[in-house]
Amino acid sequence: NVQGDRKRAEHFSDGECISSEEWKVKVKAVVLGAAGGIGQPLSLLLKTNPAITELGLFDIVNTPGVAVDLSHIDTPAVVVGRLPPDDGLKAVLTGADIVVIPAGVPRKPGMTRDDLFKINGGIVKDLATGIATFCPKAFVLVISNPVNSTVPIVAEVFKHHKVYDPKRIFGVTTLDVVRASTFVAEIIGKTDVVREVAIPVVGGHSGVTIVPLLSQSSHPLPADLAKDKFDALVNRIQFGGDEVVKAKDGAGSATLSMAYAGFEFANKIIRAFKGEKGIVAPSFVALEADPTGGAALAKELATEIAFFSSNVELGPEGVAKIHPLGKITPGETELVKAAIPELQKNIDTGVTFCREKY
Ligand code: NAI
Repeated sequence: NVQGDRKRAEHFSDGECISSEEWKVKVKAVVLGAAGGIGQPLSLLLKTNPAITELGLFDIVNTPGVAVDLSHIDTPAVVVGRLPPDDGLKAVLTGADIVVIPAGVPRKPGMTRDDLFKINGGIVKDLATGIATFCPKAFVLVISNPVNSTVPIVAEVFKHHKVYDPKRIFGVTTLDVVRASTFVAEIIGKTDVVREVAIPVVGGHSGVTIVPLLSQSSHPLPADLAKDKFDALVNRIQFGGDEVVKAKDGAGSATLSMAYAGFEFANKIIRAFKGEKGIVAPSFVALEADPTGGAALAKELATEIAFFSSNVELGPEGVAKIHPLGKITPGETELVKAAIPELQKNIDTGVTFCREKY
């Protein structure tokens, strides 16, 4: 029932409608790490998207149960949950158009994203090997931290398997964008229209590598906002994850807000895949995904850095265009300068980890 689906689909397309013909394209979405704190609510949200016709769930535990539970929801996606034995990864990945990876361990109090690296790096490398083998053309959305290092790992695995297409590999930084909108809307008293508050968040996805470009906010901050309040806002966007880790007090890191953010980004990828134009979102990508735009951005950044999160225009093949930072303030220039050495270190860590293993 395309009409019915379309009606529901409008809800998922930020108010912009696309033709029912476009909704006829079948989409298989896969979640790797689907039984986890992020994986379960993310799978639930994906199941509610009528554009998804198949939903594959993989984890080392519990996916058959999660899949049966979700399969009772009255939306089109046929849900399959598999475990590692009997080629579970192969079965789930075969035919996938979009693969979202929230597999791994989350941060505990006192841990940095880099502390996670050794465990999650290995998990992501193994899962990326599966994707490179069974669905090399899928869009890969990496949530597992540290994103600044796990995205380069996926790129290295794909290079090793000679299926590398930088346009199709994304680090999901949407939670930083979502937090920026929420925190700014709180300050300017616009929580009723928070979804309209848009702030590009660039750089990477940990601590100082997260750079909110508040001067480009769709809804400007008060000109007389005190410097300490402004700095506290920047800090809150950069370290919002710590707020959640602390509040959960040993029970993990952001899961529900991350599932929402991952769903938002996945929907944008799906809409672009189906032919909708003009979809732009910040994401951590290889600059070579758009040689022209990437080179212009590298020039702006005055660095040879290989991966960076900037506004990315999405198309049916993935990255269509990497946008420049545009006009930024001297304060934002300082934040970008501070981000680059840390980002470079994180990228090198990912690349070295992978190359040592081949
Ligand atoms: P969790 O521990 O609740 O769930 C992780 C799931 O991955 C578990 O169900 C586990 O069984 C599964 N898993 C472990 N090894 C696996 C493998 N080899 N194959 C398939 N599944 C495997 O953790 P949570 O809270 O869901 O976080 C997941 C990841 O997401 C962590 O790395 C965390 O740091 C990251 N994260 C990223 C954010 C972002 O903004 N990009 C925000 C918040 C968390």
